[in-house]
Amino acid sequence: MLTNKTIVLGVTGGIAAYKAADLASRLVKRGCRVYVLMTRSATEFIAPLTFETLTGNKAVVDTFDRNFQWNVEHVALAKQADAFLIAPATANVIAKLAHGLADDMLTTTVLAASCPKVVAPAMNTGMYENPVTQDNLQTLRDYGFSIVEPDSGVLACKDVGKGRLPDADVLISALEDALSPKDLQGIRVLVTAGPTCEALDPVRYITNHSSGKMGYAIARAAARRGAQVTLVSGKTGLSAPAGVQRVDVFSAQEMFDQVTRRFPEQDIVIKAAAVGDYRPKQRQEHKIKKSGETMTLQLVKNPDILAYLGEHKRLGQVICGFSMETKDLLENSRKKLEKKQADLIVANNLTVAGAGFGVDTNAVTMITPEDAIPYPVMSKEQVADELLTRLLGILKKKQGE
Ligand code: C5P
Repeated sequence: MLTNKTIVLGVTGGIAAYKAADLASRLVKRGCRVYVLMTRSATEFIAPLTFETLTGNKAVVDTFDRNFQWNVEHVALAKQADAFLIAPATANVIAKLAHGLADDMLTTTVLAASCPKVVAPAMNTGMYENPVTQDNLQTLRDYGFSIVEPDSGVLACKDVGKGRLPDADVLISALEDALSPKDLQGIRVLVTAGPTCEALDPVRYITNHSSGKMGYAIARAAARRGAQVTLVSGKTGLSAPAGVQRVDVFSAQEMFDQVTRRFPEQDIVIKAAAVGDYRPKQRQEHKIKKSGETMTLQLVKNPDILAYLGEHKRLGQVICGFSMETKDLLENSRKKLEKKQADLIVANNLTVAGAGFGVDTNAVTMITPEDAIPYPVMSKEQVADELLTRLLGILKKKQGE
């Protein structure tokens, strides 16, 4: 999403300004054209030359600077920019932006720009929590700026609290959010992710290798594209993507309960969770004692959530399942599509390198009643976006019917 984008990186005068060098470098590596605009006080913390070397472009401080070759006169740059990222943003610059003050290259260019703007405040906790700063941030939100919440921790001034500049990954991700088309605006999407766990006794459970990465990538991409997202998640080590409502569940039955009660108001349901087919017939009240050489567990079938949704979907609802098979993948997946009355099945073959549990990539075939489209190995984020585009197409077709 960032390839060939023109990003204006605003760097203001806080100690976190040195971190903006890494950010600029990463944006360049992601294929962006990066123009850095610095406030005068930012130059006290880091030299413009650092950014010029990293970006290959003049880092401009003074509006009246004429000592450069490229035409970065503020209005020209404002027009070229695909997005603005101001990181770190001091309380002072936030206040100026909130009130339309334009007294240097950075603030004049922001004021002239109509592209998406992301602001990452970083400052002392007292300054951040001051109602004046909070009001200014709210004003910026109301004007359509995206605000990245600062992290908590030990600050440069040795205070402990909120005010640290988040990692470059978080900032880049916020930038991608801001640049993303909002084609899922107004659409309600429910995603399930991760494994289910079936308790044997108070200390043990049966589960599977699902990391939840695929489902979380879908939830995140859907939220980024403007959907109202509910993520029903089994036990994973992942944190909820921004703007997503997460509902934690443990067992398949709990997942069934949470999904089915929310189903009527959803437009699209994507079942990326690896749901256990069976659970122990009885959950023992006390820890099972070690006894003989072998042990037999009696299991009973879990409800099939996707099949239930297929049976109960109303006109215009789209449901999608995932299929993992070690053999006869396409044939089995097509059977699943029909049996569970799904609109699309994402088949991923565990035997292909780069697909499956725990990894960041996936190799899938998307199967609908009409076709089966194979995709090359892609990142789980790319699979998520491609899948959402397909499902949106199906939804629109259904709603047009
Ligand atoms: O039948 P199978 O488990 O292979 O189907 C996989 C798809 O069905 C996945 O989308 C999974 O989330 C869903 N499923 C379910 N409830 C179950 C088992 C699987 O919703 N009990």
